[in-house]
Amino acid sequence: MADLKKSALFVCLGNICRSPMAEAVFAHFVKEKGLSDKWIIDSAATADYHTGKNPDRRARSVLERHSIEMNHRARPIIADDYKNFDFIFGMDENNIRDLKRMAPKKSTAKIELLGDYDPEGPCIIRDPYYDDGDEGFEEVYQQCMRCCKAFLDKES
Ligand code: 4NP
Repeated sequence: MADLKKSALFVCLGNICRSPMAEAVFAHFVKEKGLSDKWIIDSAATADYHTGKNPDRRARSVLERHSIEMNHRARPIIADDYKNFDFIFGMDENNIRDLKRMAPKKSTAKIELLGDYDPEGPCIIRDPYYDDGDEGFEEVYQQCMRCCKAFLDKES
């Protein structure tokens, strides 16, 4: 039987700040719509500095404050991801450049900026890793909420 599941992979540089937040927010909306068995959702890094680590403490506290569950361990993107996922989302232009550079010839995934779905406009989801506080993480959360909702509405 044909596999009717859709799939989305969220990618950033380290996979400890933005992309695990985007994955968790998207999974939250998918669950809220009763579509969890229709989607495969994951996140990954373009670099392998943080492989195996939990998301950044500030990312965890922002999502906890908004009652969004997040369970992820950082992992690098692999060649199979490019054929196993329908959509691969980068957070900024560097992610998109790296994703395209690393793509195998047989890639079938649609590579897009997640921020292109933001009805309020800002297309880049900025890296908050070197910020002092967690305001940048709250901004990432708000952007992910708008973008993931718009993307899921379009796809379902
Ligand atoms: P992310 O943030 O790409 O949103 O996970 C970063 C995490 C770690 C580093 C850079 C960005 N780093 O250089 O270690």
